[in-house]
Amino acid sequence: MLTKIYKVNCLNPKEDLEAIRDCANILKCDGLIAFPTETVYGLGANAFSTVAINKIYRAKGRPSDNPLIIHIAKKEDLNLIAKNISNKAKLLINSFWPGPLTLVVEKKECIPIETSGGLNTIGVRMPSNNVANLLIKESGPLAAPSANLSGRPSPTNADHVITDLNSKIDAVIDGGSCKYGLESTILDVTTNIPCLLRPGSITLGMIEHIIGKIEIDKTVTEDKLTDVIPKAPGMKYKHYSPMADITIIIGEEKNVVKNIINLANHSNTKVGIMATDKTKDLYHGCGVVLSVGDRHNPESIAANLFKIFREFDNHNVNSIFAEGFLGQGIELAIMNRLIKAAAYNIINV
Ligand code: TXA
Ligand code: MG
Repeated sequence: MLTKIYKVNCLNPKEDLEAIRDCANILKCDGLIAFPTETVYGLGANAFSTVAINKIYRAKGRPSDNPLIIHIAKKEDLNLIAKNISNKAKLLINSFWPGPLTLVVEKKECIPIETSGGLNTIGVRMPSNNVANLLIKESGPLAAPSANLSGRPSPTNADHVITDLNSKIDAVIDGGSCKYGLESTILDVTTNIPCLLRPGSITLGMIEHIIGKIEIDKTVTEDKLTDVIPKAPGMKYKHYSPMADITIIIGEEKNVVKNIINLANHSNTKVGIMATDKTKDLYHGCGVVLSVGDRHNPESIAANLFKIFREFDNHNVNSIFAEGFLGQGIELAIMNRLIKAAAYNIINV
């Protein structure tokens, strides 16, 4: 299959309405379209069509018990697909939609069991990205996982999508780089006290500010492999990984740098070092050194993380030594993705 690339103006996608309508028509005929969102690129399919949904699992090589998030363009559309929405959920919707917050809610019968990976709940979100919003208005609700091959880092630009899915999907809408760069926060609001299943750019603090104390699924903060099964089925798989093995080093910055230099010098493989703006020059001569951003600006690090993983792939490194992040807020999401990419390989110095 030839994968078409549609370039659109993300600031004013209405200029490219014809291209968006082409894509919406492909979706209505059960095709697959990758499209930009404010978090990462999604691989969209008609949320109501079993035929289309099965194509997603096949194109990504995704296990069929890993449910998909449904993307809507209007808040009212939640009632088409979900029921028994709690008051806390409504408060969060009013505060954070459109935006990078997925709510797990009870599903209606019209959503095929394939979309929900066998569960009677679904994840739903309303993206704030203009292109995504216009596309979904034209196509109707879309089931959309991140548009990467299963296990690979989520794509934050159209090139990443092409690298993974060229010739496996009908088209990609190229709307530039994603604003946040990490997947949405996932919150289960089917219980009296909601539970955070995946941290993201809508932080724990932002959520608790609106609805009070919430629970955190144990697997969100764990830093070693345990038997606990995450409530978001997708979080149990090794994830987000570049080709190389990652080792995360945490501790006081000067000790971290000293240890990474030592590890790099004693490695007999091609080494990559994931540094920050402040430390990158200290690793001169130790391997392929890439800065993931400014430690004082965690939003920049979130936006770069998956892109940097893919850059290490392009350099064909075999081992990556990465500086870790210990803060709360968005750093919780950054470290969560980094730990899963490293398969819990962490050294505390
Ligand atoms: O930002 C995002 O959420 C992106 C963009 C494209 O919107 N999408 C995304 O989808 O990250 P995906 O499929 O890569 O991750 C979806 C996660 C999986 O870990 C899945 O297990 C969880 O959401 N999930 C989906 N439905 C669920 C449900 N009913 N209960 C618990 N977890 C669910
Ligand atoms: Mg994903």
